Amino acid sequence: MFNINNHYIHQEIEKIHNDEIFQNSQSSISINGYIASVLSFFIRTQSIKKILELGTLYGKSSILMANCDENIFVHSIENNEKNHSIAKQNIEIYGLQNRIQTHFGDAIEILNSPHFPKDFDMVFVDANKLAYIDYLHWCEKYLDQKAMLIFDNIFIHHALPKYNDKNCSMFKKMEEFLLYTANEKLFDRLILPYERDAICILKRK
Ligand SMILES: C[S@@+](CC[C@H](N)C(=O)[O-])C[C@H]1O[C@@H](n2cnc3c(N)ncnc32)[C@H](O)[C@@H]1O
Repeated sequence: MFNINNHYIHQEIEKIHNDEIFQNSQSSISINGYIASVLSFFIRTQSIKKILELGTLYGKSSILMANCDENIFVHSIENNEKNHSIAKQNIEIYGLQNRIQTHFGDAIEILNSPHFPKDFDMVFVDANKLAYIDYLHWCEKYLDQKAMLIFDNIFIHHALPKYNDKNCSMFKKMEEFLLYTANEKLFDRLILPYERDAICILKRK
């Protein structure tokens, strides 16, 4: 029987998911095959070379992105000490420690530290959903206008459309992000829905 999900299979991320080094880690919140396809597509077609990732978890998405091309360099920030240490080990097993630099700490704090690089041509945001608007303002302040900005889980695993409670801080912050990015004078915006969530792709004008 035809199953549309079969067409989202992304061989590289499937290989990473099935790698035995990841078998002991709970990683259902890692990118799926669809997001892997979206990231690989943009990295390859837009000649992306320097990538910032917010939210490393165990390193799967960093490894996937770095493997798109041997000239890619990734900086990835993770605030959970255990996740960060597992990610570092996994990246070393893949021999990518010279092209993926992990940073331990809160994303906003690390981003605002004086010597943190600011010459990224793509940003993949997958960290604290309450801070998406703050991550975006950092990108606007420091990055080149041409940088591709990709935000995952903008419907917070489908929780967002169901919220009635307008006082919920997660709802308010994500709504603020969505309203702000809807401004056509500031951004070209593409929202790609998938399963129970969506990814938001922005380019500044
Ligand atoms: C959805 S997971 C990232 C998945 C990863 N990108 C992947 O696909 O393999 C989100 C990660 O962001 C981290 N995180 C949450 N808040 C953060 C913050 N304020 N700063 C840095 N990392 C954060 C979490 O600890 C978690 O590991």
